[in-house]
Amino acid sequence: MKITILYVEDEEEIRNNTKRPLEYLCDKLILAQDGKEGLELYKQYDPDIIVSDIKMPNMNGIDMTKAIKEINPNQYIIFTTAHSESSFFIEAIDMQVDGYILKPIDYELLENKIENIKEQIDIKLKNKQQEKEIQQQKLNILEQSKNAQMGDIIGNIAHQWRQPLSVISTAATGIQIKKQLGMISDDEENSLLESIDKNAQFLSKTIDIFRNYIKEKRETKTVILQTRVNLAISIVEASLKNNNIKIINNINKIDDIQIFIVVGELTQVLINIFNNAKDILSEQNKKDKWIKIDLERRENKAIITIEDNGGGIPDNLISKIFDPYFTTKHQSQGTGLGLYISKDIIEKHLHGKLSVKNSQNGAIFKIELPLSSIK
Ligand SMILES: Nc1ncnc2c1ncn2[C@@H]1O[C@H](COP(=O)(O)OP(=O)(O)OP(=O)(O)O)[C@@H](O)[C@H]1O
Ligand SMILES: [Mg+2]
Repeated sequence: MKITILYVEDEEEIRNNTKRPLEYLCDKLILAQDGKEGLELYKQYDPDIIVSDIKMPNMNGIDMTKAIKEINPNQYIIFTTAHSESSFFIEAIDMQVDGYILKPIDYELLENKIENIKEQIDIKLKNKQQEKEIQQQKLNILEQSKNAQMGDIIGNIAHQWRQPLSVISTAATGIQIKKQLGMISDDEENSLLESIDKNAQFLSKTIDIFRNYIKEKRETKTVILQTRVNLAISIVEASLKNNNIKIINNINKIDDIQIFIVVGELTQVLINIFNNAKDILSEQNKKDKWIKIDLERRENKAIITIEDNGGGIPDNLISKIFDPYFTTKHQSQGTGLGLYISKDIIEKHLHGKLSVKNSQNGAIFKIELPLSSIK
């Protein structure tokens, strides 16, 4: 920590005598002859500590301090003052400066006061540093989870596209070969072209769904909860199907629920939970794999539960799964941020609750959302 002190004193002899001990206490000492010069040098050098006389020509120490405290209300200031200046003294006390020293200056006292302030500066600096580090960590986590999500999205698009792309390519080569052999009827050609068109439209629809999802992430509006859940399902649907996982969707069994939320964020949470269920189920060999989604309205809460039959979370890990970076997956598979971010979104942004327990089948995630904020 480098300390700069500004010393303001109009009497040359006192200034010269005090200069030496002050020099020992800082890395840089700036001298001023009166309040006016003191204020100018303050603006120029932004010193950590000011030691100032009170009674001075041009501008006195009180007026200088008033001006400085307007620039920085937390500026550390020590006044040196003579008994005869008692009329200023009351005003100086009102200004909440950090110390007073009577003249003639007791250098040991001055040193104590300055060391004291230095300690305070040091603590403040350390706190600031810590805060900065925490902030940076949070940013890193967000950035990482954004990257992971992008990877997920691209993975899901790839899954959704695999089937229709293969249909398109088979149809196109089919037409080509049959044409060369002169073995294709107009009807057959038309039906193959139609299937190419239909599948191409599906590709384009998929892109629209994903594009909307990415675009609307931060929008807050009133939506029908069922629609949002169905959207999240449609995003992961193909990748679940490819892993032979059945979706048991019970959410349309109750009346539409309107809710005022940041729309994309809920989708993000649902996708995280679906992907986790898919991850555990895809490692397993059993025939019957499923994810079940239920929706319930209780008082002024909407409750979404998502259960899978993947066997659940081991008891000794269940309390850790919402921690940042907690993952049981290989590095290339999981960052351990999915559920941490999800809990943050549900509880801090949407003012609800995200919890988990095990059932006989597997994990059950419960999302509770308040409906009171409907607009
Ligand atoms: N449905 C589930 N069944 C069993 N274990 C689960 C389930 N969902 C989550 N877990 C456990 O919780 C851990 C943390 O999940 P989380 O989504 O936060 O991270 P991740 O899936 O490992 O990585 P990513 O950041 O890519 O999502 C998982 O590694 C897994 O061990
Ligand atoms: Mg995950």
